[in-house]
Amino acid sequence: MEKYSGKRALITGGSSGIGLSIARLLAAEGAQVMVTGRKEAELEAAGEEGLVAIRSDATSKADIDSLAGKVEEAFGQLDAVFLNAGITDSASLEATTEQMYDVIFAANTKGPYFTLRRLLPLLAEGSGVVLTTSVLNVVGYSDHGVYAASKAALRSMARTWARELLPRGVRVNAVSPGPIGTRILHKNLPAEVADEMAAGIAAQIPMQRIGNPEEVARAAIFLAFDATYTTGAELPVDGGGTQL
Ligand SMILES: NC(=O)c1ccc[n+]([C@@H]2O[C@H](COP(=O)([O-])OP(=O)(O)OC[C@H]3O[C@@H](n4cnc5c(N)ncnc54)[C@H](OP(=O)(O)O)[C@@H]3O)[C@@H](O)[C@H]2O)c1
Repeated sequence: MEKYSGKRALITGGSSGIGLSIARLLAAEGAQVMVTGRKEAELEAAGEEGLVAIRSDATSKADIDSLAGKVEEAFGQLDAVFLNAGITDSASLEATTEQMYDVIFAANTKGPYFTLRRLLPLLAEGSGVVLTTSVLNVVGYSDHGVYAASKAALRSMARTWARELLPRGVRVNAVSPGPIGTRILHKNLPAEVADEMAAGIAAQIPMQRIGNPEEVARAAIFLAFDATYTTGAELPVDGGGTQL
């Protein structure tokens, strides 16, 4: 019997990177998996892998409403929700624009907040919610003030929601990645520049390497399904970066 047979999971930002890894691992173990994203080509590719792929912008109320309807239609209820969609951008305090602030907070903070709010009636008893935060919410790293603050807010929400959802038997936790080899880290830079940047980052990590998306996915899945006595917590997956 496959480990997640009969389980129903939604992964926002499941069309790429960490979210797609979560989706693949769950689907390989028998779960029914719905993923969201905005780019058609990636959604199409996810659909071809057998995932239910929905175009849904986490910053759009209409899309969130419609997504909840599609979840209900396809699965009825959910056993796991991974609020993983997120974006990054960097600028010093001096160079940050109000627009950049609003765009990042809309995707990383407001989006997950109102997505979970809309999904509440669909959460099955005993289900797990996992938020993707970032190690940057506990360290001061130049030029990432807006992104770090957006993730710190999300980390705080994990605590509040964990408390509020206790009576429903729903656990809420966060997985906090360090540098992971996805396109968000490469920032569409030419391969050579991206490799050089990644080597520089890796040199600062105790394990001396960048993580891979599957390593985060396994931790997120653990929090969603196996961590039955854990709620309101944040699990770093960062090669020891924030701990050693
Ligand atoms: N990689 C790292 O080093 C790292 C470190 C710490 C935290 N994280 C966090 O991990 C999460 C996943 O990132 P990743 O590294 O896997 O990057 P990624 O490959 O770029 O994946 C991001 C996913 O989010 C989706 N997304 C972004 N904005 C969205 C929106 N408004 N509505 C719906 N979907 C949206 C993207 O799809 P579309 O582009 O099609 O919208 C994509 O599926 C993010 O929350 C990120 O902040 C990553």
